[in-house]
Order: sequence, then structure tokens, then C-alpha cells
Amino acid sequence: MCRLSFQQNREGGELVITLENITKSFIQEEKEHTSLQNINLNVNKGEFLCIVGPSGCGKTTLLRMIAGLDFPTNGRIFEGETEISCPSRERGYVFQQYSLFPWRNVLDNIAFGLEVKGLEEKERYQKARKYLKMVGLSQYESSSPKELSGGMKQRVAIARSLVNDPQVLLMDEPFSALDVQTRHKLQEELVRIWSEEQKTIIFVTHNVDEAIFLADRVVVLSHGPGKIIKTFNINLNRIRDRSTPEFLNLKKEITSLLEIEL
Ligand SMILES: Nc1ncnc2c1ncn2[C@@H]1O[C@H](COP(=O)(O)OP(=O)(O)OP(=O)(O)O)[C@@H](O)[C@H]1O
Ligand SMILES: [Mg+2]
Repeated sequence: MCRLSFQQNREGGELVITLENITKSFIQEEKEHTSLQNINLNVNKGEFLCIVGPSGCGKTTLLRMIAGLDFPTNGRIFEGETEISCPSRERGYVFQQYSLFPWRNVLDNIAFGLEVKGLEEKERYQKARKYLKMVGLSQYESSSPKELSGGMKQRVAIARSLVNDPQVLLMDEPFSALDVQTRHKLQEELVRIWSEEQKTIIFVTHNVDEAIFLADRVVVLSHGPGKIIKTFNINLNRIRDRSTPEFLNLKKEITSLLEIEL
């Protein structure tokens, strides 16, 4: 199908991901259970989009479908002009749970995708080291994942996704297991990496503060079946100051919207 009419947003910017009327149902105990309903969403190239919503509203399901790991019951999802039908290097995924290969050292974890792609050792290590440096862990290249803290593991996971040069980075609550200080540090690092690398990021979180700190746009989902109840454009300068009235007002507004949903 020709999708020329969908390729640009109203400002003429390029669309990377388009969700058209997505519904997702699962069969649970012989009954159909709808997890997501009528989701329409355009994600612009270079945009940092956060999705927040109560537990069980379908955030992970949505991200998995954008990754091509699962499929909508109704509706379609496109990357550019192409309907998503399988996972792709263009869509990197960072999981909530630490997902490094325990038998590989840090550098070999990051270089894994390049190895699968068939790159020569010299080239893959050169690239892996670039991203290891970007996440501030150069001195840990020979370490085993078990020697790293949670925050360090997530930094390696981010580097492992970025080394494949994906167009879109899909992140499912990647910092949720971390203490507040480490979480804030990683949020700042992610904003810096996002602006340096000019990636499109779709980031799922429970945490309203995190979403406002990171995103150009925050999409709020309702309690299951998840529907988009409101979208907020966050027009605050980065790196954002959590103590400004603008930040706090947004936090209050989004939090109260979510509380109604609990
Ligand atoms: N493979 C599956 N089979 C059956 N039901 C599923 C499956 N995956 C998800 N669900 C159901 O879909 C709903 C949404 O699940 P999902 O994991 O996407 O929620 P979530 O918003 O990511 O929750 P959380 O914030 O707790 O991570 C839940 O009711 C869940 O039980
Ligand atoms: Mg989830």
C-alpha cells in the first residue's frame, strides 16, 4: 500500500512510527481480554516520546508490537512506509530486567549484534568501544556482567542497542530497578546520548517525574484496556529542572490524571 499521505506530520517533519487504530486482545482462561483499544499514534523522527500508564494497561504489549515481537489483533503499525512484521535492527529494545549475556564480558556483550551481522573483530570492537565510552564505562570492558551494578548493567544494555545504529530505541522501564540518584544520573545521560545521536526514543515508564524530565511528548494511557486519554507536549528546556513551577504543575496534572485511572 502506498503510504505517502502518512509520511509527514503536520509540520512537515518525518514520521518514523505510525500506529493506526491498534487493538490487542489475548485469550485468558478461555475469555477474550482486550489489553489495548483504538490506539492511534504518530512518532516523529528524532522525537523523545514517553508512554505512562497504570500497571497492566498494555505499555509493554504496545512496545513489543512496535518491536515486531508481537502483533496487533486489529490495526497496523508502520516504520516509515513499511508495515512492521518482524523485529529489526532499526528498532533497538532495552528491557526492564537486566538482559546481558552472563557468559560474555562487557565488550563482547556490546559487540554481539555486530558479530551476528558478520563484522570483523577489529571493526566490531572499535564500534563497541565508542559506545562503551559514551556510557562512561570504558574501564569495564573486560568485566563480567555479574561484576557490575544495576545502573552499569543498564548502561551496557543501552550501548548494546546503540551500537547497531537503530533508528528507534524502544525502552521498557529501563531504570525502574535503580535507586533515585542512579536513576536521575542515567536519565541525564540518556538525554545527552539522545541529543548527540539524534535517535527517536519511545520510552515506557510508571514514573511521571521521569517522563516529564525526558520527553518531548508524554502519552498517558488509561487503565486496561489501555486507551490514550491525553497527550502532553513538554516544552521545557533541557537539562530540565525538577523544581520549577512548570515542571511541578505538569507533574501534578499527569499524576492526578493517573490517580483517577487506578
Ligand atoms: N502473552 C500474554 N498472554 C495473555 N495476556 C497477556 C499477555 N501479555 C500481556 N497480557 C495481558 O495484557 C495486559 C497488559 O499487559 P502489559 O504487560 O502490556 O502491561 P503493562 O502496562 O506493561 O504493565 P506493567 O506496568 O505492570 O509492566 C495485562 O492484563 C496482561 O495480563
Ligand atoms: Mg510492562
